[in-house]
Amino acid sequence: MTGIDRLRGHLVREYKKRTAKSRAAFVRAEKVLVEGGSHTIRLWRPYPFFAAGAEGARVRDVDGNEYIDYWQGHYANILGHNPALIRRNITACLGKGALHTGFEAGHQVELAELMVRRLGGGDLKVRFTTSGTLATMYAVMLAQGLTGRELVLKIGGGWHGSSPYLLKGVKFHQGPGFEGRDSAGILDDIHRRTLVTRFNDGDALERTFKEKGDRLACFIVEPFMGVGGFLPASREYLRRARELTRKHGVLLVFDEIISGFRFAPTGLQTLYGVRPDLSAFGKIIGGGHAVSAVVGDRRIMEGCERGKSAGGRVLFEGGTFSAHSEYMKAGLIMLGHLVGKAASIYPRLARQGDALRAGIERAFAAEGIDARCTGSGNEVVPGSSLFMVHFPRGGAAVSSPQDVLDDRRSDIALREEILKLALLVHGVNVVHGGGAISVSHREQDLRRTIEAYGETAKLFRKFLA
Ligand SMILES: Cc1ncc(COP(=O)(O)O)c(C=O)c1O
Repeated sequence: MTGIDRLRGHLVREYKKRTAKSRAAFVRAEKVLVEGGSHTIRLWRPYPFFAAGAEGARVRDVDGNEYIDYWQGHYANILGHNPALIRRNITACLGKGALHTGFEAGHQVELAELMVRRLGGGDLKVRFTTSGTLATMYAVMLAQGLTGRELVLKIGGGWHGSSPYLLKGVKFHQGPGFEGRDSAGILDDIHRRTLVTRFNDGDALERTFKEKGDRLACFIVEPFMGVGGFLPASREYLRRARELTRKHGVLLVFDEIISGFRFAPTGLQTLYGVRPDLSAFGKIIGGGHAVSAVVGDRRIMEGCERGKSAGGRVLFEGGTFSAHSEYMKAGLIMLGHLVGKAASIYPRLARQGDALRAGIERAFAAEGIDARCTGSGNEVVPGSSLFMVHFPRGGAAVSSPQDVLDDRRSDIALREEILKLALLVHGVNVVHGGGAISVSHREQDLRRTIEAYGETAKLFRKFLA
């Protein structure tokens, strides 16, 4: 038995000792839910804990264990879990009857106005929908509808949700390049029409545009890679992307579903000074509810307006729960708060991010383990509350999605499985080795978190050295 098997065995035993009720809940769940749940990231092995409640930085499971949580609702909960500010208002709304009606109501106007203002105004228009997956899918459809072209360019390691157009080049460990099949159920034709390029590689971008620029509908990119490693785009890369897309008549789409209102009370596009043609927002903007948005230049967004001939119009219009008035109200409170308190919120989150990333790297270094923590800002992003831990093989660099997602370059199992369980056993919940600090994380939470990484590093040394 290898050291990692022994360590896994030890951690599974410790985890099971503490989580008997979650285990029973999972056995029941497995009988009726696929793999026991509805989202694979939430379904870690041997089984997930079941949450009984969550407030601020913490989540409590059904066995009474408490965890400092950095998953924070898929990074949506920048104020922490169940913030009193939003809860109070929503409770009052519900008291007056705020369940679904299917009519237009005012809060969506205010939320759209706020977003347009924060994104620099001009001729922007917004349409709301209910998930990031849908927002990016509609953005691609708008681009294809407008340009009449059928190729879509995305980043290797970029996750934009599971729409057929963008479910390619998500995983690296399946093959040497980007071309592995990430999912069954996607027509060959669509698979072929999605092209993949390397993040922050302006020359590769230029080559692709030279060869295929006149067939490309859009280039979609996260200004700050999420699942692909919490890595910021360089200013130079996004500027070049803007120039190339403009030159070739291709739409530039920013996926700001993680980055929107995460680093500043606006999108990263404002900080980079690069205005995309379309952008997708989600997560934070819903104040804990299912809200996403496509924002874009009026002339492009008109592509989904009625009055166009059939076939010339993008049918971005369904959505039983789109712009649900309670969700819109929650989003408005959230963004209003972030804008009003930006001067204290964002610098503090950035300072905490720096301290946490450095503390984690130090904790591993003290045990002779090479662990790197991404998530820092750069020449444009002034600071960051995100952190992701990696265990590079043989001192390799950790600067691209390939580095962090390819098991030959980084030890993925150690991060995704072993580190996760070790931290849970020490009272900390992370995803992909890290997560997002929220406004409700206190200094003592961060200290406790660094201690938990330190205890984990000691275990790694004991079992893996
Ligand atoms: C950058 C990015 N885009 C799109 C999505 C998809 O959003 P959703 O899960 O709301 O469909 C995600 C989800 O994590 C994301 O991180």
